[in-house]
Amino acid sequence: ATNRTFTMIKPDAVENGHIGAILEKITAAGFKIVAMKYTQLSKRDAEAFYAIHKERPFFGELVEFMTRGPIVAAILEKDNAVEDFRTLIGATNPDEAAEGTIRKLYAASIGENAVHGSDSDENAAIEGAFHFSGREVF
Ligand code: CMP
Repeated sequence: ATNRTFTMIKPDAVENGHIGAILEKITAAGFKIVAMKYTQLSKRDAEAFYAIHKERPFFGELVEFMTRGPIVAAILEKDNAVEDFRTLIGATNPDEAAEGTIRKLYAASIGENAVHGSDSDENAAIEGAFHFSGREVF
C-alpha cells in the first residue's frame, strides 16, 4: 500500500547548502512530496515535537540545535515509506550510516545529523499533523 512518512531537513544541512541535493536524493528514490514548507521551530515547538526525548541527557542540546535556524519540513509518499526512508537516510549516527545514505553524505555528528525520518506509521501521522494542516497536503 502507498503510505507516508514525515521528514525535516535540519538546520545544519540548511546552513551547509544541502537542501537541493537532499531533495534530489529523496525524489530520485521514488518519494513524492505531498507537503513541504520552509520554516523555523520555536523553542516551544521543538520541545513539543521531541517530547518523547524529554528525559534524555541530550534534550537541551537537541532543542537548541533544532531551533537555531530554518528547516524544511515535508510529508513524503511512497510504498513502504517509513522503512524505505530510514534506509535512504542511514543510521542516526553518521559514523555508522551506510555509504551513499543522506547522513553519510551530509551529516557531521549524531546530534547534527542533517535529516529526520519518522520511525513508525503512527509517528509519521502525528509528526505530519504537527507541521501541516489538511489544506497543505496534496
Ligand atoms: P532524530 O532521530 O531525527 O530525532 C531525535 C534526535 O535526537 C536524533 O535525530 C538526533 O539528532 C538526536 N540525538 C539522538 N541521540 C543523540 C545523542 N546521543 N546526542 C545528541 N543528540 C542525539
